[in-house]
Amino acid sequence: MNVLVVGGAGYIGSHCVRQLTAAGHRPVVLDNFVYGHRGALADGVTVHGGDLGDESVVKRILRAEKIDVVMHFAAFCYVGESVTDPLKYYLNNSADPLHMLNAMLSAGVKKFVFSSTCATFGVPTTLPIHENLPQAPINPYGQTKLDLENALRALATATGLSFAAFRYFNAAGAAEDGSIGEDHTPESHLIPLAIQAATGQRPHLELYGTDYPTPDGTCLRDYVHVDDLSRAHIAVFDKLAQPGAALFYNLGTGRATSNREVIRAVEKATGKKVKVIEKPRRPGDPPALYADSAKAQRELGWKIKFPTIDSIVATAWKWHSAHPQGYADR
Ligand SMILES: NC(=O)c1ccc[n+]([C@@H]2O[C@H](COP(=O)([O-])OP(=O)(O)OC[C@H]3O[C@@H](n4cnc5c(N)ncnc54)[C@H](O)[C@@H]3O)[C@@H](O)[C@H]2O)c1
Repeated sequence: MNVLVVGGAGYIGSHCVRQLTAAGHRPVVLDNFVYGHRGALADGVTVHGGDLGDESVVKRILRAEKIDVVMHFAAFCYVGESVTDPLKYYLNNSADPLHMLNAMLSAGVKKFVFSSTCATFGVPTTLPIHENLPQAPINPYGQTKLDLENALRALATATGLSFAAFRYFNAAGAAEDGSIGEDHTPESHLIPLAIQAATGQRPHLELYGTDYPTPDGTCLRDYVHVDDLSRAHIAVFDKLAQPGAALFYNLGTGRATSNREVIRAVEKATGKKVKVIEKPRRPGDPPALYADSAKAQRELGWKIKFPTIDSIVATAWKWHSAHPQGYADR
């Protein structure tokens, strides 16, 4: 398959590009490099600089590269910023992708894979979170993702577009060979922050909330390896052959890992102590979020290669120890 990977220079997209190549597909990247890194992409990968909201650019690439499937990883993902600057999020995450979809339909490309998020569920009514739980986002970031899910549903019915929306839990880890990995600016994810605190790149780690109703008082989250996520995107291709397929899958390991357990895993992998400063809870952080991914495992044959936090952190440490400053193009 010729696959347009939109946001392919970002963290998850770049790992998917590698997995696509390894599986014998041809990834073509579209990224505006607001957050992406050229260093995350191998030399042989075709890269187009441009914005997904530019219909003429998208249409030209779809036709010239004979694209079969579009994978959409490009979004802004800072929950706090989405609260203070919601318009930035509604434009980039909800409105602009509609232009990309319009370009796809006029170019006759009708297969789409979308990076959605567990944030569409808000504070879940029960755990683990399966696909049929009510979706009630508690911040604009989650709402923008739900808006696009809903638009896709309508388009599938009206136009025969087939799509899969994957609700990721906490994407984590790096390529097993340590060659590519996570490099967000600013960094907001716990594993890289804890690694930076362990190596002295930041003075300490701020731990928000130690009085949650959880076994050790800290939040529980579901860490899923970035390569496991990528493999699900490829495993869904067969199902997209069905016109109008509207597919939703929650992707996590199903394991609830506390913030303190993440810190311990980082200390174990690095052999260094993480200096922690305990802070009050942050508003809007649910105590526990973890997935029921039985549907993806059953329907896609999705297999989790990295089920434990130790196995995930080990790959993250391999990347960070080899690239303490991240990509060279920062
Ligand atoms: N990282 C996580 O834990 C996580 C969890 C749930 C969902 N997600 C979703 O997964 C996707 C990828 O996340 P990530 O961590 O790889 O983010 P990232 O910021 O590393 O990658 C996003 C990429 O998209 C590009 N981009 C953004 N807007 C664009 C536009 N308008 N046109 C072209 N390119 C654009 C950026 O330059 C960047 O390279 C996002 O949609 C995010 O919402 C991530």
